[in-house]
Amino acid sequence: MTILGIESSCDECAVAVVRDGRDVLSSVINSQIVHHQPYHGVVPELASRLHVEAIQTVYQSALSQAGLTLAEIDGIAVTKGPGLVGSLLVGLNFAKGLALSSDKPLVGVDHILAHLYSSQLETPLPYPHLGLLVSGGHTLIAVVRGFDEVEVLGTTVDDAVGEAFDKVAKFFGLGYPGGKVIDDLSLEGDSSAYRFPQPRLQKATHPFDVSYSGLKTAVVNQRERFRNSRGKESLADICASFQTTAIDLLLKKVKSVSAHTGIRRLVAGGGVAANRYLRQRVKAWKDWEIVFPPLEYCSDNAAMIAGWGYHALLRGDRAGWDLNAESRVRRFKNSFH
Ligand code: KG4
Ligand code: ZN
Repeated sequence: MTILGIESSCDECAVAVVRDGRDVLSSVINSQIVHHQPYHGVVPELASRLHVEAIQTVYQSALSQAGLTLAEIDGIAVTKGPGLVGSLLVGLNFAKGLALSSDKPLVGVDHILAHLYSSQLETPLPYPHLGLLVSGGHTLIAVVRGFDEVEVLGTTVDDAVGEAFDKVAKFFGLGYPGGKVIDDLSLEGDSSAYRFPQPRLQKATHPFDVSYSGLKTAVVNQRERFRNSRGKESLADICASFQTTAIDLLLKKVKSVSAHTGIRRLVAGGGVAANRYLRQRVKAWKDWEIVFPPLEYCSDNAAMIAGWGYHALLRGDRAGWDLNAESRVRRFKNSFH
C-alpha cells in the first residue's frame, strides 16, 4: 500500500511517498527557515503564504522522485494538527483536492503521534516503549503501546526544550533556530563552568513534568550567580552548561518514568533528538534499548505522516470533507493531562 503524506504544520512544507508504512520512496522538504530568520522565529502569516507558494512544486517533486503518478497512490495522509492553523489549512485543502479529484481515501494525522512513529521508518519497534518527543514546539515523555495508543506521562509546564535552546541562542545573537549552534559551541565549552538550577515545580504539577522558563531566565539574566569558573566569560562555557542542564533534566524524567513503568526501551523524535550531548548520554545507559530516528526524520517531514497514515488507512480510518485543522495538542488516551 503506497501512501502520499503531506506535512505543513509549521515552517516546513513537505510531501513524501512511503510504501507499507516503512519504505520511503521519496521525502521532499521545503524549509522556510531563511524567510523567518530575520524575525528570530516563525511568523504564522508568512508561513501560510509560503506553503501556498511551495506545495504544488513539493508535491510534484515527491511523486517524480518516487517514480510514480497519482494514479499509483493508494491513499493520502495529511497532518491535521497540532500546529499553526493557517499553515495546516494549506496542506489539508491540498490533500482534499487530491483525494477528491482522484477518488483516493484520505486520513488526518496527528503530528505528535507521527513524530513518535518516525523511528519506525527505519527500525520496526516492539510495543510498549517510551517515547521522547523533543522539538521547538513540544516536549513529551510518553508510554507508546501502539501506533495510536500514547499515554503522555510528562510534558513541559511552560517552554518546550527546543524553544529554550532558541531563546538562549537569540539572546546571545547566535541566530535562529539556535539548537544546532548551541550544540556545536558546547563542544568547545566547559559544562561545569556554571551550575544552573534544576526547576522546582510546584506540588500540584505532575512528577514527570519539566519546566524550561526558569533555566532560560537563569542563563539570560542571572548567570553570574551560578558561575563556578573565574576569568573571562566564555559563550562556549555558557552554552555547554545550559545544554547539560536542559538535557540532564529531560533524562532524569525519562529515568523516573522508566522506574514507574518498568520499560527500558526509549524511542526519541523531534528536532532536539539531533542533539549530540543527548545522544551520547543515552548511549552509555546499560540494559536499555535506545532508538533515535535518522537525522532527516528528527525534524518535521512528511515521511512520518505517510508512515503513520498507512496504519490508520489499513485499519479503515477515513476522513470526511469536514476534516479540519486542530491547533492544540489533543488529550491522548489515558493521559494524565
Ligand atoms: O522538530 P523540529 O524541526 O520542529 C518543531 O519544532 O516541530 O524542531 C526544531 C527545534 C528547534 O527548537 C531547534 O533549535 C532544535 O529543534 N534543534 C536542536 C538541534 N537541532 C535542532 N536542539 C538541540 N540540539 C540540536 N542539535
Ligand atoms: Zn514537529
